[in-house]
Amino acid sequence: MKIAVIGSVMVDLIAYTDTVPKAGETLVAKEFAMGCGGKGANQAVAASKLGAEVLMMGRVGDDAFAENSLANFEKYGVSTKHVTKVPGVSSGVAPIWVDADSQNRILIIPGANMHLLPADLDAAADELKQCSMIILQLEIPLETVYAAIEFGNSNGIPVLLNPAPASTELDIDYACRCDYFVPNETELEILTGMPVGNDDEIAAAASSLLAKGLKNLIVTLGDKGALWMHGSERQHVSAPTVSAVDTTGAGDGFIGCFAAELAAGTDVAAALGRAVSYASHSVTGKGTQTSYATAEEFAQWQSSH
Ligand code: RIB
Repeated sequence: MKIAVIGSVMVDLIAYTDTVPKAGETLVAKEFAMGCGGKGANQAVAASKLGAEVLMMGRVGDDAFAENSLANFEKYGVSTKHVTKVPGVSSGVAPIWVDADSQNRILIIPGANMHLLPADLDAAADELKQCSMIILQLEIPLETVYAAIEFGNSNGIPVLLNPAPASTELDIDYACRCDYFVPNETELEILTGMPVGNDDEIAAAASSLLAKGLKNLIVTLGDKGALWMHGSERQHVSAPTVSAVDTTGAGDGFIGCFAAELAAGTDVAAALGRAVSYASHSVTGKGTQTSYATAEEFAQWQSSH
């Protein structure tokens, strides 16, 4: 079954640096890489690399980055019929720092991504209705996210919302209309205003969010795996131990894999186990989409872990 990703397309400008500069300071970094990113695009490419049929809906700018992003989608077999250029606007860009501990800090300049509007869903409605899931993040206008949730609800299509980057403006009632709500720890902290410094704090913050009426809350926990809460059920999925070099985009790999598994008919618990492993594998490689394994590469890696 086809997965629809309605979301962002960015160009990642990644600096690998041992130390992050202070205000007024200039430092020499070790390495630079440019890659295709954006949380939406990353999730689409991860799912497609794993064999899912993926429809991307997004906006790119009126610049050289746009051609690169479109060619990249085509290379990975993601449908770009509804990824269009916005005249006179720049593509989304994301300067990223990856530090010596392989942790990332990301700025996004959304550019064309903010031109994906609720009315644009009409043009893609026929194809969206053929999809078995709609995946959303928060790098496009909130109104478009809400309209896509309404579209999914009224057409009986399950919706997954990844509230990234976290916004306190997100209307939690819309999150409750999604089948899966998937924040990471930082997003959980911002959305609840509660601390997430240890397992007990994470569980308390997650419980308070779930209590608002979410159907399935999945908190991604980095090297600690993921926590799935629904009703009174709690399930923690632990992650394999790996040697991380770049954590950028691991959460997107998790979502792409989770959606691909659900689309293939895998049950939620098993899909979560696969998604945690897939994200763990992704941190062993540099970059965002470049670190995602194909189905064959992932199978090979899993057999040795
Ligand atoms: O989640 C990682 C992504 O966040 C990067 O690819 C960057 O483009 C930002 O959207």
